[in-house]
Amino acid sequence: MAFTGRVTIAQILRSTEVDVAVTVKGWVRTKRGNKNVAFIALNDGSTINNIQIVVNPNDFPEELLKNITTGACLRVEGMLVQSVGSGQPVEVQAREIEIYGKADPESYPLQKKGHTLEFLRDIAYLRPRTNTFGAVLRIRHAMAYAIHKYFNDRGFYYFHTPLITASDCEGAGAMFEVTTLDMKNPPRTEDGAIDYSQDFFGKPCNLTVSGQLEGELGALALSQIYTFGPTFRAENSNTPRHLAEFWMIEPEMAFYELEDDMNLAEDFIKYLVQYALDNCADDLAFLEKMYDKELTERLRFVVENDFVRLDYTDGIEILQKSGEKFEFPCDWGCDLQSEHERYLVEKHFKKPVILINYPKEIKAFYMKQNEDGKTVRAMDVLFPKIGEIIGGSEREADFDKLNARVEELGMSKESLWWYLDTRRWGSAPHSGFGLGFERLLLFVTGMSNIRDVIPFPRTPKNAEF
Ligand code: 4AD
Ligand code: MG
Repeated sequence: MAFTGRVTIAQILRSTEVDVAVTVKGWVRTKRGNKNVAFIALNDGSTINNIQIVVNPNDFPEELLKNITTGACLRVEGMLVQSVGSGQPVEVQAREIEIYGKADPESYPLQKKGHTLEFLRDIAYLRPRTNTFGAVLRIRHAMAYAIHKYFNDRGFYYFHTPLITASDCEGAGAMFEVTTLDMKNPPRTEDGAIDYSQDFFGKPCNLTVSGQLEGELGALALSQIYTFGPTFRAENSNTPRHLAEFWMIEPEMAFYELEDDMNLAEDFIKYLVQYALDNCADDLAFLEKMYDKELTERLRFVVENDFVRLDYTDGIEILQKSGEKFEFPCDWGCDLQSEHERYLVEKHFKKPVILINYPKEIKAFYMKQNEDGKTVRAMDVLFPKIGEIIGGSEREADFDKLNARVEELGMSKESLWWYLDTRRWGSAPHSGFGLGFERLLLFVTGMSNIRDVIPFPRTPKNAEF
């Protein structure tokens, strides 16, 4: 059977057929050779692997060959044959070459030599054409697919929550406002405040920091739902682990207690890591070779070992007894910094850790309060190299307790009335968590900066492309 229709390089390299006619299309990675023979490495992004095109220079005009430079886009027709050289099983003997688009070597930034990740961030519009970003973006796709598959196979429904909201789920206040009011001259009320009744939605609105609150409405009707979409945080955190726009997966389950929530989180992450090991081998091998020698070892380790489950209070004790000099010393009640999380995971336990029962002051209003009056049924999953990868909790299902907490924190009942209503009618024990998609990708790809696992990162002072 010959190849028909548009065929990708991945398909050709997977096939066992040779001595058939093929057409390949892609971008030139390299060209080398002499006056008797030229070799073009062509890549179309379908796989990390290039296909080798063998060219007899005497069969083609010199002008055409001159324009086959790194980055140029080609269509090549020829014969797919067993490769005589080592390094690739098959190659294409070119019969016809068309240049779709040239890439002037004087100006095209992605030349053959390796580039730093910093440099590639400045040309993020071109970096998907590099081996590194090809690998990362294919793994990103595979993880997104695996997430949907995991939940679909287990009877969870994909539930779409709004991106524009009037509530602050996490209560952290780090929100981007959404308005159509004239910023230079906003309408004012009599007492001089901005008159939001004249705004598009008739009240102040923002981009969502989390789909959880609406997700809970879904869970209290469909039993098990998940969201998977962009979320926005206007925190001025210039770190390798924070984005202003990131994607989050938020499952929410009726009739789940904290223990069930932890079991799901652990099983979910292990499934995703195993999926990457099973389906992204070529890309992982490349990233391991280039960036992180222990990558597959670390991925296997996570799949094969139970996560440690530990009370926040015990975690603090371990940190205090550690004798370690932390930049931010930590007492009971403090929010853990990444250095603390990583100490517990990388140095003390040498395993992923699920930390539970945090002080209520450092956690969001919706978490179920423990009997001690001080802690809530929160869980954070802490990972090597990453720190917090998942944040979740059992939710406060009792109307009076939730209502009291909302009042205590001085939160706006005007924007939360509908959420409180869920506890008035048919309330149920329920739990959920949020997995930061790019944090997962940091772990799975072994990359060390979150800006390098999303095509177009949004960070403070950076919204190019
Ligand atoms: O811990 P967070 O803030 O929890 C929530 O938003 C809950 N509503 C989740 C839930 O229970 N449904 O965020 C959840 C996860 C974090 O553990 C982290 O992985 C990721 O989202 N995350 C970020 N990722 C990239 N950039 C940021 N600025 C992030 N902030 C949180
Ligand atoms: Mg958190």
